[in-house]
Amino acid sequence: MKRQPVDFILSGAGQLVTLAGPSRPRTGAAMQAVGVIPDGALAAREGTIVAIGPSHEVETNCQLVPGGTRVDAAGRTVTPGLVDPHTHLPFYGYREDEFALRLAGAKYLEILKVGGGILSTVEKTRRASLKELIEFNRILLDRMLACGTTTIEGKSGYGLDLATERKQLQALEILNQSHPVEIVATFLGAHAVPRNEDPETYVNRVIGMLPEVRGLAEFCDVFCEEGVFSVEQARRVLIAAREHGFGLKIHADELSPLGGAELAAELGAVSAEHLLRASEDGLRQMAAAGVVACLLPGTPFTLGHDDYAPARRMIELGVTVALATDCNPGTCFTESMPMVMAIACRRMKLSPEEALTAATINAAHAIGRGDTIGSLEPGKQADLVIFDMPNYRHLPYHYGVNLVATVIKRGRVVYDRTA
Ligand code: NIG
Ligand code: FE
Repeated sequence: MKRQPVDFILSGAGQLVTLAGPSRPRTGAAMQAVGVIPDGALAAREGTIVAIGPSHEVETNCQLVPGGTRVDAAGRTVTPGLVDPHTHLPFYGYREDEFALRLAGAKYLEILKVGGGILSTVEKTRRASLKELIEFNRILLDRMLACGTTTIEGKSGYGLDLATERKQLQALEILNQSHPVEIVATFLGAHAVPRNEDPETYVNRVIGMLPEVRGLAEFCDVFCEEGVFSVEQARRVLIAAREHGFGLKIHADELSPLGGAELAAELGAVSAEHLLRASEDGLRQMAAAGVVACLLPGTPFTLGHDDYAPARRMIELGVTVALATDCNPGTCFTESMPMVMAIACRRMKLSPEEALTAATINAAHAIGRGDTIGSLEPGKQADLVIFDMPNYRHLPYHYGVNLVATVIKRGRVVYDRTA
């Protein structure tokens, strides 16, 4: 039999964890089935996986073309590239002072009310030039890549005016073209009410921005929260966004049980985020409507809260659970998905298998990319990570250090710790 020509071969993975399975999101017991090939190998051509299986099989069936890339995983663990389906990139500047204030007892929404919090990042992001914004966020993307993330979602929302919202989305577009981490863009004009502005008037302005950002963002998101945008206001923005062809996302029921989960189900949102206070009814409706619960346990961890989203109950109810960093300078400043997985297992009682599923294939579904990334299967993008660990269970178990050795995006080595 003629061997298939390929331009990338990785072999000798002690565990090749594929997450292969049906093309739908993984729910319930299916979240446990991560799919391990011992002594595994994978071959790709032009960035797409063409073969996967035991090393001897892939080596017999595939022929590396001259100039192709060969990677020896040397007995280590290989997983799909991690997917981070909720970040607040691009932002500008830090908020370490606010972190210290919160440690001393100040509350997140109180800080926002007096013009701090999101609004202080808005000021800094407005002042940054497009170039400064790109360079600041390129470094964050470098760190994400070094932690094993190959695709992220990023949002506007630190502009709250058309020019800055567009500048943020343009920065994402340029970074997507020039950085190995792939970026899916979301418009979050309804992230906070600008200073001295009436909420209703601002909601109308956000709706007016939709056609102006249409080509720059695939999704539209709203921060639906007591003291920020009500369910009614969120509904207005999201219905208008749907009419303009955006997919929908919603920051829902994080600090108070407003009914954001119900709204996400009613509107057929792709995902709902946070969900610490979502009602049982809301969760059932999300399960029925196929809305992905995008859980961000780094946020209560950073805010020093004791409550986490009821992930176990969600899994019991058949809700699709994904994990993300929420990377932002206020409520969760980490680029690391492995850190988020470590918190998810300890505080939300996910198993290591569920955490890996939530950070790969389900995370891909949370940004409408379940068909192209999130698992290692023929036809999908060759996005993978070699971890310096004997098996995938070390991923949430061994925490606080970076165990990523090599990252491959579309069949090319884009990060190598030893290089
Ligand atoms: O998801 N909740 C709203 N947005 C972010 C926080 C953004 C910020 O504080 O700058 C979040 O936690
Ligand atoms: Fe967020």
